[in-house]
Amino acid sequence: MTKRDFPLASETRERLLRRVEAIQDDGSINSPERAATAFKATDFSTLPGYDELRFYLSVGQKFGLGNPYFRMHDGRAGSHTHIAGSTLLNFSSYDYLGLNGHPEIVEAAKAAIDRYGVSASASRHVAGERPVHRALERALADHYGVADSLAFVSGYATNLGVIGQIVGAKDLIVYDSLAHNSIVMGGVLSGAARRSFPHNDFDALDRILETARGSFERALIVVEGLYSMDGDYPDLPRLIEIKSRHNAWLMVDEAHALGVLGKRGYGTAEHFGVDPRQVDIWMGTLSKALAGCGGYIAGCHELVEYLRLTVGVFVYSVGMPPVIAASTLKALEILHREPERVGRLQRNAVAFRSLALERGLDTGNGAGTAICPVIVADSLPAVMLSQRLLERGINVQPVMHPAVPPRASRLRFFLTAKHTDTEIAAAIEATAEELDAVRRNMRSLSAQL
Ligand SMILES: Cc1ncc(COP(=O)(O)O)c(C=O)c1O
Repeated sequence: MTKRDFPLASETRERLLRRVEAIQDDGSINSPERAATAFKATDFSTLPGYDELRFYLSVGQKFGLGNPYFRMHDGRAGSHTHIAGSTLLNFSSYDYLGLNGHPEIVEAAKAAIDRYGVSASASRHVAGERPVHRALERALADHYGVADSLAFVSGYATNLGVIGQIVGAKDLIVYDSLAHNSIVMGGVLSGAARRSFPHNDFDALDRILETARGSFERALIVVEGLYSMDGDYPDLPRLIEIKSRHNAWLMVDEAHALGVLGKRGYGTAEHFGVDPRQVDIWMGTLSKALAGCGGYIAGCHELVEYLRLTVGVFVYSVGMPPVIAASTLKALEILHREPERVGRLQRNAVAFRSLALERGLDTGNGAGTAICPVIVADSLPAVMLSQRLLERGINVQPVMHPAVPPRASRLRFFLTAKHTDTEIAAAIEATAEELDAVRRNMRSLSAQL
């Protein structure tokens, strides 16, 4: 074993072991030092979770691991990226269709800057809007074949603000247990009663509504069109049947489904051959396949009009920079014009997963879409694996609890239309080899401890 693998002095190992033993089942740390320290309400280091964060960072340092987050990229990140002067094969960016930096999008952005400057300078509500805002919203509404849409400056804030606004204390919100944090926090903000159902378990959803629906005025079901950590998707026709029977709204977050699912990349409805008007609220982000930033809601006229006039993150927040509206509008146009990009992405995604399975990697719930997890289980080996791959010229991020369930830490690969067969095969081979090495080292560390 090399020093790089486990550069731990024995007394450090002892201390580490004591700290590991102090970790409770719920992930909090039973620290005698912390208990002995008088609680100071003004001390930021007593905020919940700070202790754990410091602990995990220090464990990483002791193992000679760099922080896998906040890596500094020197330029544009797509299927490749540049970090610390090296070109790396990249599986960490959402640039599914390879549109970031596309010359027509860059041109559209430059023209918008020349005409409008960079900022919308105030809320659209108060200070007015630009034709590109309306053009983007028209194009998104047409994409779904619905009456209207509304664009927000952030995808996260879209879920937070919209869910927070349309349901309240007399209502019920039911969401998938793997729903994105912005959905969960939107539910918290709303003050509605909240229930979650096990991932993609629609019998459980049905039972919750059967029991609880009668006690509430309105009910909102929220799912993702493509799950951001797992790369699988819900059975949309079944959801539509359930929501209709229980007189509930259905909201589908297509952050990762737009440009990815369906023959032409139109999303979850196209994948299932469902009329998009059967879903009450389409939500999506402009930051993934459309290589921009921001979120949107698409639906019927009354919904969009209500949101435009009431949602705090829209009314009391600056409008989307016109340059972003112009560039994402162009990206949507290219998505529609060049479905072959979607075809290449889908072929890459299927190839990646089948090679991974052939090589014995655990792809969890992965369904052969543009997001493919490789499950490692524990956090430390997941970080180690990411670091070893970085050293082999492959950038892929670990995802750990609480972003995923405990003991489900993973590397999450984002495929793009631009990855080649050779690059995919090389990435799988390197991942399998390095995962073996990490597991050997972990066994050896356990024996030493
Ligand atoms: C499912 C889902 N919804 C919403 C968001 C938030 O979108 P944004 O990053 O564009 O703010 C994300 C972000 O990754 C996401 O995965």
